[in-house]
Amino acid sequence: MKFFVDTADLDEIREASAWGALDGVTTNPTLYARIGGKLADFPEHIRRICALVPGPVSAESTAAGRKEIVREGRELAALAPNVVVKVPVTVEGLAATRVLADEGIRVNMTLCFTVPQAILAARAGARYVSPFVGRYDDIAEDGVDRLEDIVVALGNYDLSDCGPGGESIEVIAASIRSAHHVTQAALVGADIATVPFAVLRKCLSHPLTDKGLEAFNKDWEKVKNA
Ligand code: G3P
Repeated sequence: MKFFVDTADLDEIREASAWGALDGVTTNPTLYARIGGKLADFPEHIRRICALVPGPVSAESTAAGRKEIVREGRELAALAPNVVVKVPVTVEGLAATRVLADEGIRVNMTLCFTVPQAILAARAGARYVSPFVGRYDDIAEDGVDRLEDIVVALGNYDLSDCGPGGESIEVIAASIRSAHHVTQAALVGADIATVPFAVLRKCLSHPLTDKGLEAFNKDWEKVKNA
């Protein structure tokens, strides 16, 4: 499973990237608003993220109609070669995705909650689809079960003829809220997990690791002083 960081914060992206295990970045309008982003600065901000991480960087279209999504998608894709245009799984989003995919622009279809939505995203040529795990949990349903349904359903077919470049669609487990979600996403076979920076940190934290390290350090002091 690949790791993306789900943030628009440049410091978080820089730090996560420095760990050497980061494959990409996803952003959305909420994450950009959270860092106090201004509309006029958005293109430059995406360029800066793309310069920090060579992997795919999802930048979301906020347009409503298919023509507008296509126009915005082209503009976003022109910002850097590693931009992936994030488009919601709606009728308008689907139609726009087909056009963008036919032009070789990679699309991440977002706000995906069901198997039919995921299959339609694949058929429309999306390079990625993002099922939201945590938001299902928020409404007392099992988000990991729904994610697994999508992984299994897409795995039933060869979808390499749908998108740009003959690559099959990849499933990005999104709306990840805990290290346990990351474990579960890996166990059900998600291709990628996009993880908030704070959760990424928690993925590395374990009391037995800390305790073991403390013991090794203490014993090494004994060796040095022997
Ligand atoms: O990538 C989509 C993700 O950021 C949504 O997460 O926590 O707002 O449901 P959340």
